[in-house]
Amino acid sequence: MSKNIVIGGQYGDEGKGKIISYLAIHDNPEIIARGGVGPNAGHEVWHKGQRFGMRMLSCGFVNEKARILIGAGVAVNPEVFLKEVEMTKCDGRVGVDKRSTVITKENIERDSASANSAKIGTTKTGCGPAVSDRVNRVAKLAAEVPELAKYITDVPKEVNAAKNVLVEGSQGFMLSVLYGTYPFVTSKDTSASSIAADVGLGPTRIDNVIMVIKSYTTRVGAGYLPGEIQREDAEKIGFQEFGTVTGRPRRTSKELHWDDLRLASMINGATGIAVTKLDIKFPAVAGKRKYSDLTDEAVKFIEEIENKLNVPVGLIGTGKDSEDIIDRRV
Ligand code: IMP
Ligand code: MG
Repeated sequence: MSKNIVIGGQYGDEGKGKIISYLAIHDNPEIIARGGVGPNAGHEVWHKGQRFGMRMLSCGFVNEKARILIGAGVAVNPEVFLKEVEMTKCDGRVGVDKRSTVITKENIERDSASANSAKIGTTKTGCGPAVSDRVNRVAKLAAEVPELAKYITDVPKEVNAAKNVLVEGSQGFMLSVLYGTYPFVTSKDTSASSIAADVGLGPTRIDNVIMVIKSYTTRVGAGYLPGEIQREDAEKIGFQEFGTVTGRPRRTSKELHWDDLRLASMINGATGIAVTKLDIKFPAVAGKRKYSDLTDEAVKFIEEIENKLNVPVGLIGTGKDSEDIIDRRV
């Protein structure tokens, strides 16, 4: 019996989608619920040889028995939602909380036209304006949208009644409007406490917080990025990535930012770390599924993370397939 949350420890794009899809299958939760901001998120999952870029539904859809929910704290774009329901063929097992904020066309237009959004480099998905409408108490709620009627549910009631729940956070700690690199941040707090509140779980109900960190650091949009390297150099070492939502090239730093990660670990109350893309940093470990098969260099890196953050590394990603994982959790 457990309620576990997965959150990002950096600037989003840590590989939460892959970790979620692995946990969805191996831990077999009854419910997988999404928290976080909205369709500004792009979570990638490779399932049965196919790539899915998910923006509204949890990557946990890969477990065909699980119920897939969207929490009250998440801003919903009905069009994106309906498209993903169709794409993943999970119509009968999806729910949206009745209280979720709806993203309107006007929200998207405002996000696209605003000079401040351009300065920050937002995803132009209307999330910020929808959150501000909610704060100004003029937002439209999911329960008012006829196309969503058959999916409307009470997510807090469902997740609190269930025994095993996996909660998918979105974005990353350094994009939190409270703790991140303000003003170059997203429109909500992205830490585990807020993600728990997004789906209606009280702090005393959470058993594990898994903080996902990539073996190096990337960022899309403006704002500080210590150790940033040129795009050509990132390409040469195979670190160059592109945004799932916007297709923008991600900015790259080869470093892990220890002070930021320590703060992230503390404020999220991380009980475990998932390290992703170890195979990009150390190509010799590609596809390895046993800790004992890692190279000395890679083991040293994992130990450095554990020593610096004082949190065990329970999961290690070694390839893009959701099964390319070393699971060291006890
Ligand atoms: P917004 O969330 O669209 O308002 O964008 C604000 C900042 O957060 C921009 O720098 C975006 O690139 C970044 N951002 C928002 N969501 C994500 C995400 O899921 N992954 C990575 N960056 C994100
Ligand atoms: Mg992403």
